[in-house]
Amino acid sequence: MPQQYPLAAVLTDNCLDCIPWNYHPPLSHNFKLDQNQSLLSGAAFLYLFFAISLGVLIVAEYMMAMATSIQADSPSTSSDSQGQTFTSMYAVPFTVTKGTETFTVREARRDELGDIGWVAAEAFINNAMAYYFSGTTKPMQVTDKSALRSLYEFYYFLFKTCAIGGGRAVVAVSESKTDSDLSKNRIAAAACWYPPGKRIKTMNALRGGIVRCLWNWGFQGFDRMANEYTKITHGTFKRSFDSRAIEIPAASMRKGGGKKISLKESDSWYLQAMFSSKRFEGRGLMATLMREGYAYAHRKAPGIPITLDATSARARDRYMHLGYELMEPVTIIGAGKATPIGLSPSNKTEKRKRQAELTGVPYWCMVNWDPSRLLEIESQERKL
Ligand SMILES: CC(C)(COP(=O)(O)OP(=O)(O)OC[C@H]1O[C@@H](n2cnc3c(N)ncnc32)[C@H](O)[C@@H]1OP(=O)(O)O)[C@@H](O)C(=O)NCCC(=O)NCCS
Repeated sequence: MPQQYPLAAVLTDNCLDCIPWNYHPPLSHNFKLDQNQSLLSGAAFLYLFFAISLGVLIVAEYMMAMATSIQADSPSTSSDSQGQTFTSMYAVPFTVTKGTETFTVREARRDELGDIGWVAAEAFINNAMAYYFSGTTKPMQVTDKSALRSLYEFYYFLFKTCAIGGGRAVVAVSESKTDSDLSKNRIAAAACWYPPGKRIKTMNALRGGIVRCLWNWGFQGFDRMANEYTKITHGTFKRSFDSRAIEIPAASMRKGGGKKISLKESDSWYLQAMFSSKRFEGRGLMATLMREGYAYAHRKAPGIPITLDATSARARDRYMHLGYELMEPVTIIGAGKATPIGLSPSNKTEKRKRQAELTGVPYWCMVNWDPSRLLEIESQERKL
């Protein structure tokens, strides 16, 4: 017969200390609680309450993800011959040659997340949005190890959270065998995508390392990133989707289909982050990753839009070239708090003095309503 103790008694070391090893209450034990025990019951109740709340939260998030009307996780349903041409052309893994170099495009491996983080940190070292989140008062330099590390931890967090949260991290990897600079890190470009119905979830953010970002950038950074930026961006996305009903091909719908419906922004693919390594910028790698993303999305369910936000004019122009349109001419974050390049004043006096310069950071919320379109046009051009 195993020893039995009141549940509350076994929850604390204190109580365990005072229970004799051979203690065994009678079966007819009267659970009349003294003051200590009732406090412990309160603690047990709280544990139970938090455990149940957490369970409910996880189940609710899962059900919301499943409730989306788009077949995000279904196998390919496209049957048009043009579609197959471009979808097979960009099916990972594949290789592309840019100039004299060859790159393999494929899904990232878990053990590459660190390398991705470091290459991203260098790529975003002058990025205004990263400056704004970090609260930096002066431009960051690649030589500033602590600034670089905080950027590394941020992008590591974004890619890891995406990878564990049902998203896709895709990389272009240099195949150069002779270049000694590339002996360790071969990541030339990377993208992370969230499918329809999937976005950053609290539990995944915790597992992905949000606490490190919080540690680096403090509550101000956390508030700017998780609250201010999310509200402004998703407000803009929502307005854009509310004002447009789009036709979804029958193949993309669970029931019926081929009809005009009002998609929510959460029904779109979301390009969370994209970059090319400094050394491979301008070689067409970002464009290759984008086309791979279009082909993949088309294979999963044709006609589903992609949303993103461009945090530099350079990126905005290239995204427009690849079929995106602006949801509004420009979106501003941090008006009264940061300069257009994302620098924050170092104290209240400086803030008062430089108020006129603190016009906020511009960025661009964009959508590609029909990502396959570009690939279809290119496919037709190749046939001519
Ligand atoms: C923005 C960034 C991702 C661009 O990457 P990249 O690899 O240099 O871009 P690419 O070389 O693939 O761009 C080439 C495409 O853009 C087109 N392009 C080139 N210059 C252009 C211009 N000025 N305007 C519009 N399109 C242009 C090219 O024709 C090509 O398209 P094509 O394949 O149809 O011919 C990269 O500069 C970067 O990582 N920057 C830092 C991080 C960042 O800002 N990321 C984006 C955050 S949202």
